[in-house]
Amino acid sequence: DLYTSEIQGFTPENADELERFRIKFLGTKGIIKDLFEEFKGVSAEEKRVLGKVLNQFKQFAEQRYSALKEGFGSQEKDQQSSEDLTLPGSGMEIGGRHPLSLVRKEILEIFKRLGFVVAEGPEIEDDWHNFSALNFPEEHPARDMQDTFFIKKNSGRDDIALRTHTSSVQVRLMEQGKPPFRALMPGRVYRNEAISARAHCFFHQIEGLYVDEKVSFADLKQTLYYFVQELYGEGTKVRFRPSFFPFTEPSAEMDISCSICKGEGCQMCKQSGWVEILGCGMIDPNVLENVGIDSKKYSGFAFGMGIERITNLKYQIKDLRLFSENDIRFLKQFQSEI
Ligand code: PHE
Repeated sequence: DLYTSEIQGFTPENADELERFRIKFLGTKGIIKDLFEEFKGVSAEEKRVLGKVLNQFKQFAEQRYSALKEGFGSQEKDQQSSEDLTLPGSGMEIGGRHPLSLVRKEILEIFKRLGFVVAEGPEIEDDWHNFSALNFPEEHPARDMQDTFFIKKNSGRDDIALRTHTSSVQVRLMEQGKPPFRALMPGRVYRNEAISARAHCFFHQIEGLYVDEKVSFADLKQTLYYFVQELYGEGTKVRFRPSFFPFTEPSAEMDISCSICKGEGCQMCKQSGWVEILGCGMIDPNVLENVGIDSKKYSGFAFGMGIERITNLKYQIKDLRLFSENDIRFLKQFQSEI
């Protein structure tokens, strides 16, 4: 009876107290176990009566225990659900655009204002589109295993490779339609180079193409001049240096006055005050003929730039590897620019 009232009156505060209750009464060294031990020593007469009482008591304790345990569980649940629902939730991290995507978008928008549309092509390319149609001679070093990741290499004409530049998309575009063409072609390109702060085995380019009647080098210069003023700010100077590409004639490389040191000379422009940002030129008549365009009637210009280089200059990023490491501390710095 003493125990019964103790059990009856027992109201645990927490799960620990309830557990201590279980050990005290129902545990392997608990009171009930002891009582059953004692029970073994009594006479047969008493056993009949006591047995019944003991079993009832045991049942009672067990029932009380499981009732308490259940009540406890739901009490805990109640506490949870009565939390203050007006409290602000735990914040969810919002991702940001990758700096290369931001700059690509900006470049495409500038040229869109000049009427350029966007075109894309495959990253796995055949010899024709990456090299032959672009007037690369059979033994040109760019076709060499040194630079190009070949997927299939046999005779040259039916080689398959990862494209080494986006100029391949020019060829595809011109093959598919009729002039005039005015397009920008962004994409990833691959070159077999050791990865360092200044080189990577893949990077991103944007190709530009304009083909129509009477397109001149002056058009090329003015288009690129406008682009630079828009991207790097008014007053940014440009200069063209003669260069060579198999698919353009004449060819040039364009430099801008360094946006970081304002042309005074810094690490980025190697003290010269100028930094190269793209290659360009008038499309070689051989290329136009290769894609079935009458080179007597039409002319055009093309240019190609590396998005990484443009981005480095804009944000003073000095290590190319940052673009592909996905270090959140680097990427977070561009979050506000969505
Ligand atoms: N495809 C050249 C390169 O990857 C760039 C270029 C494009 C030059 C178009 C001239 C015209 O270096």
